Amino acid sequence: MSSPSTTDSRTLEDAFVLPTYAKFPFALARGEGCRVWDEDGVEYLDLYGGHAVAALGHSPAEVVDAIAAQARRLLFYSNAVYSRVRAEAAEALVRFCGEPGAQVFFCNSGAEANENAMRVARAVTGRARVVAAEGGFHGRTAAAIAAAGAKYRTGLSGLGADVVHVPFGDLSAAAAALDGAAAFLLEPIQSLAGATTASPEYLKGLEALCAAKGALLIFDEVQTGLGRVGAPSARQLFGARPHLQTFAKALASGVPAGAVLAVPEVAAKVKPGQLGSTFGGGPLACAAIKATVDAIASRRLGENAAAMEALVRETFRLPGIVEIRGRGLLLGIVLDRPSKPVRDALLARRILVGGADDPNVIRLLPPLIAGAAELGLLREALAEILSAAPAAR
Ligand SMILES: Cc1ncc(COP(=O)(O)O)c(C=O)c1O
Repeated sequence: MSSPSTTDSRTLEDAFVLPTYAKFPFALARGEGCRVWDEDGVEYLDLYGGHAVAALGHSPAEVVDAIAAQARRLLFYSNAVYSRVRAEAAEALVRFCGEPGAQVFFCNSGAEANENAMRVARAVTGRARVVAAEGGFHGRTAAAIAAAGAKYRTGLSGLGADVVHVPFGDLSAAAAALDGAAAFLLEPIQSLAGATTASPEYLKGLEALCAAKGALLIFDEVQTGLGRVGAPSARQLFGARPHLQTFAKALASGVPAGAVLAVPEVAAKVKPGQLGSTFGGGPLACAAIKATVDAIASRRLGENAAAMEALVRETFRLPGIVEIRGRGLLLGIVLDRPSKPVRDALLARRILVGGADDPNVIRLLPPLIAGAAELGLLREALAEILSAAPAAR
């Protein structure tokens, strides 16, 4: 039973907010590290991370302090002016990504980052079509620019969805579709699909194909970026160099922010007026980005993510678990049964995890500070739950 305070918040939200999401059945009041507390003070172990956002854990001190200090100095000014904190946030991201000479466009979300990456690819190649891998997820924007006045619809930047899909992992299909295309866009690890992981050969093959066909390779690193996969990004993990990488989620620890990172040869071709955003690159978001990226780097959280993947692979060999997909702390635990009842049983034990398009998958997207203690609690709970409720045969 929910207490009155929890019920009040839920009733209030249900009355005023459109019912577009399936939600956990409680209202959260606060968070710290890998733990969150609901309005009744009930503590949860958060291995979902607010959907991969809380890389540094909840309300990390260095980011909270940076946001508070920036808010007092200057809450907002647009891209009409230079901004020290914007420059420093971009520098931090470029250094973190290890691509000297790369340049960044800031926006507010993962969807916008992907929109703008596709826009850059279309503008730079002079081609319209984008090839995407089946099974991916890249955000929910569509046609705002197509609805704008003629001045803003010039060239190819006003095009909506000229996108064709090919099977994930199929290089011959990619080769055929890339003829005359502007770009190939994919998640190197398809998170929502169930942590479906590309092979290094596939990604390197796409890099070679794009080079041969004059198209740009775009990695959607909205989930895989910023240390989560046990490396700075999928690009280092798989050893394939995309022309454009998109980031969001963990980028600013929860302050809405997205970014497109363009390698120097692409950055050199971007012209004034091709991209724009009122709030993108604003001082508050950039203070949060710089503090977040610096902390992920200095605390070596990518290395922790790699170590925790190894621990999970070693210690989660439990009856009922048939496969562990993904890399670092973007993991899909594949069960021999639907994951929903197991996730509900975890919730009853106050452990938050995610689901996936694959109904048998439990998705882990915990803070990158999660350690052996937190993952041990999950293992213990899973061992009990999976042995108590054997798969229906
Ligand atoms: C891989 C990927 N790309 C893009 C997005 C869209 O991001 P946003 O919701 O910030 O627009 C998501 C969101 O879940 C995502 O997982």
